[in-house]
Amino acid sequence: EGARRYFVGGNWKCNGALEFNKFLIEDVINKLEFDPAKVDVIVAPTTLHIAMAKVMVADNVKVASQNVSLYGTGAYTGEIAAEQLTDFGIEWVIIGHSERRALYGEANETVGTKVSNALEAGLNVILCIGETLEQRESNSTNDVLKEQLDACKESVKDWSKVVIAYEPVWAIGTGKVATPEQAQETHAYIRQWMAENVSEEVGAATRIIYGGSVNDKNCGDLINQSEIDGFLVGGASLKLAFQKIVSTAS
Ligand code: G3P
Repeated sequence: EGARRYFVGGNWKCNGALEFNKFLIEDVINKLEFDPAKVDVIVAPTTLHIAMAKVMVADNVKVASQNVSLYGTGAYTGEIAAEQLTDFGIEWVIIGHSERRALYGEANETVGTKVSNALEAGLNVILCIGETLEQRESNSTNDVLKEQLDACKESVKDWSKVVIAYEPVWAIGTGKVATPEQAQETHAYIRQWMAENVSEEVGAATRIIYGGSVNDKNCGDLINQSEIDGFLVGGASLKLAFQKIVSTAS
């Protein structure tokens, strides 16, 4: 404990046109106050705005892609390959977000392949996992998380390149945040999976961040939980509230 550096990501999803993206970069991101020794800060704009963000964001903030192609370069219309991201200087990618799983049919196996391609190309991965409300209510949360994690087990050789984002689907964009206790308990299960399937040491070192209706009001209680190493923020990353969230974690 104590050794894991906090991690806060802003996932802008498919929001905002040019002016809004400029506002986010100049007035939200570039005015963040944090200690880079204590917290990694990452922003994920749309694929269209990623190049601009890469040029404009302050040095202490990293830009992430929200997605990566299942394949390498070639005849894959509409896609961006992992090696194109690394070549462009992008260091992080979000993989397995529940919106991609639910709306674009990304199965666990697809997520596993993307994770392995991304890591092989030299990217760092924010791996998103999480259960639906139905799954939580039927007490299958841990089984669902286990399946999602098992599908990525062989993909990861070096877990220091991976941050796990626990994002319960019922908490995403709903205003219904997991309680600090729920998040703590679930993160502890994820760490247990790591201890059993990778090693105790890797389990203790891997950052597990929480996502789902995090805002400037609830972030303090969440970050006080020993198993919560930061956040993946959606809606509140489109507002000045993101500054408070980052400072809470630094
Ligand atoms: O990836 C972040 C996310 O899905 C959470 O979204 O809007 O509930 O903070 P939001």
